[in-house]
Amino acid sequence: MTDSYLPRAEYEFSEHPIGSEQVDPDPIVQFRIWFEKEARSGERDGNRMALATADDAGRPSVRMVLLKQFGTDGFLFFTDYGSRKAIELEQNRHAALLFHWPRLQRQVRIEGAVDRVSREISEHYFSLRPRTSQAGASVSRQSEPLLDRDRFESEVRNLGGGSEPIPCPESWGGYRLVAERFEFWQGQPGRTHNRIVYLPGGDGWQRSELQP
Ligand SMILES: Cc1cc2nc3c(=O)[nH]c(=O)nc-3n(C[C@H](O)[C@H](O)[C@H](O)COP(=O)(O)O)c2cc1C
Repeated sequence: MTDSYLPRAEYEFSEHPIGSEQVDPDPIVQFRIWFEKEARSGERDGNRMALATADDAGRPSVRMVLLKQFGTDGFLFFTDYGSRKAIELEQNRHAALLFHWPRLQRQVRIEGAVDRVSREISEHYFSLRPRTSQAGASVSRQSEPLLDRDRFESEVRNLGGGSEPIPCPESWGGYRLVAERFEFWQGQPGRTHNRIVYLPGGDGWQRSELQP
């Protein structure tokens, strides 16, 4: 046994404690309040989130993706429909999202079921992406083995350098996660953190607190 452990960062816990009465009754509204505060904190990429999926044997996998929209209809992200995450989502629609906003000592966990968005939405978002990203997404068969990196790069360069519009690949598009559970975590000194959970109940959502 060794007494060498990685150090814990010393945070300043400056955010006020939250209780289930201080948060909005609607978890999407509460998410928007926190999301906007994170954006104002000067942190870039507050929309990055970990996406956890599991295959049909229940084996989990997780990776970062970017949130592109959210609202009552769900949390939208885009990816390759042939990727590992997509294959797992076809096997098992249940997934989890995790946001960590360390400056504000906050974490948001969202769980729910995922569906593909319409082709129209995928094509529309794809058309707004920079040409270099369009070229990369068109050439890449995400999560398949890369056998020849030089060839891959030159295909991306050739497509990106052309002038023809790059169509949205059939195998690329969006997913929307419709939330069935939210947890908002606010760090507090002395490990007295706040945890507010929202679950469907009554006509909307029921809130409760968990021990930290
Ligand atoms: C900050 C960050 C954002 C990312 N955003 C996306 C994204 O929006 N969509 C995507 O397909 N991959 C994104 N990636 C790459 C994924 O983490 C991952 O490598 C890729 O999707 C393949 O994952 P898979 O093999 O589990 O399907 C991002 C990576 C990072 C670090």
